[in-house]
Amino acid sequence: MANSLIWQNLLRVQIEPTNRCNFKCSYCRRTYWSRPNGDMSLEQFLLVLDKLPSVARIHLQGVGEPLLNRDLPKMVRSARSSGARVGTSTNASLLTREAAAALLDAGINRINLSIDTIDPLAFKRLRGGTKVESVINNITALADIRSKSSYPDTDLALVLVASPSVLEKLQEIIHLGANLGLDEVYMQNLNSSFFPSNNSDLQQLNNVDPEKYREATLAAGITAENLGIRFLAPDLDCTDHSYRCQWPFHGCNITWDGFVSPCCLQPDPDLLNFGNLFESDFEMIWQSSSYHDFRARVKADCEPICVECPARYGRMWHPDANPFAKHES
Ligand SMILES: C[S@@+](CC[C@H](N)C(=O)[O-])C[C@H]1O[C@@H](n2cnc3c(N)ncnc32)[C@H](O)[C@@H]1O
Ligand code: SF4
Repeated sequence: MANSLIWQNLLRVQIEPTNRCNFKCSYCRRTYWSRPNGDMSLEQFLLVLDKLPSVARIHLQGVGEPLLNRDLPKMVRSARSSGARVGTSTNASLLTREAAAALLDAGINRINLSIDTIDPLAFKRLRGGTKVESVINNITALADIRSKSSYPDTDLALVLVASPSVLEKLQEIIHLGANLGLDEVYMQNLNSSFFPSNNSDLQQLNNVDPEKYREATLAAGITAENLGIRFLAPDLDCTDHSYRCQWPFHGCNITWDGFVSPCCLQPDPDLLNFGNLFESDFEMIWQSSSYHDFRARVKADCEPICVECPARYGRMWHPDANPFAKHES
C-alpha cells in the first residue's frame, strides 16, 4: 500500500463487490438505472487494495447484493490483513449458515442486515426478492453462529430506511433485534433524490409525518435502552445548514468496474466519477483538479448534484452512525 501524509484525510472506502442484485427494491437507485451489471474479480479487488493508501475502514458494498460475489469472504480476509476494519451490507437473503460462518471466520467487523420492514406484505411490495420470514431466519442463524463461537469483534446491525411503514413496526423491530442478541438497530433517512416524480407509491414512502417520527423514534430509543440494544435514528428536522457532508473529503466509493465516485449516495459513475482505478493510480484521482473542484463546490454549498441529498446537511444518519461526524473538511 502507498503511504504518504496526504492520505491522512482518507478514512473510509466503500468498494462494490458486485452491482448485480437478486432484489428489485422500489426505493433503490439500482432499480432506475441501466448500468452494465458485473462483479469485481478477486484479482481486481487485490489490485484496488494495493493501490489504496492504508485506510481505517473498508465497507464492501455498493449498489447490488455483495453476497452474490462468491469471493466476498476472501475479500474480507484480504481487506482485514491490510489493517482496516471491514464491513458489508446485505439483504440477508443469501446468508445461509455456510455464508454466515465464512464471513465471520474471515474476520468481518460489521454486518449491516438491511431489513427495512418486517411486515410481510410491505416487504413483498417494497423489496420483492424473497419472503421476509426467510430473511429473518437467516439473520437468526447468523446470530446463533456468532453466539456459539467467539467473534468478539463483529457487530451485527439491523438496518432500516425511514418510512411510514417502518415507523409502524419500529417497536417490533427493536424487540426482534434484542431477542436475536444483535448489537444495533440503525435507521437511515430515505434518499429520494432520484425517485421518478410520477411514482405515487414512492412519493408516499417519503411521506413521513415529522410528529409521528419523533414519537416513534423516542419510544423506540427507550425500549432499546431497556432491552440493551443500541438504536440510532437521524434527526429529520435538523436545520443546521452549516454542516458539510464529509464524504468528498474523507471517503470515496469504488464501483465494481473501478470508477471512483465521491460517496455512497451518488454511486453512479455515469453521473459523476473522478477516474478509473483500474487505469490510474489512486493518488492521481484523489488529487485531480476535478475532485478538488468538486470538494470546493461542496464546501461552498453550491454543488448541484448534492442539492436533494439527505446527507447534505447531515440528515442522513444519526451523528454516531455518520462515519465522518467528528471530522471537518
Ligand atoms: C443499496 S443497498 C446494497 C447492499 C444490499 N443489497 C442491501 O440491501 O443491504 C445498501 C443499503 O441502502 C439502502 N437503500 C436502498 N435505497 C435507498 C434509498 N433510496 N435511501 C436510503 N437507503 C437506501 C438499503 O436498504 C440498504 O440498507
Ligand atoms: S437489495 Fe440492496 S442493492 Fe438490491 S435492490 Fe434492494 S437495496 Fe438495492
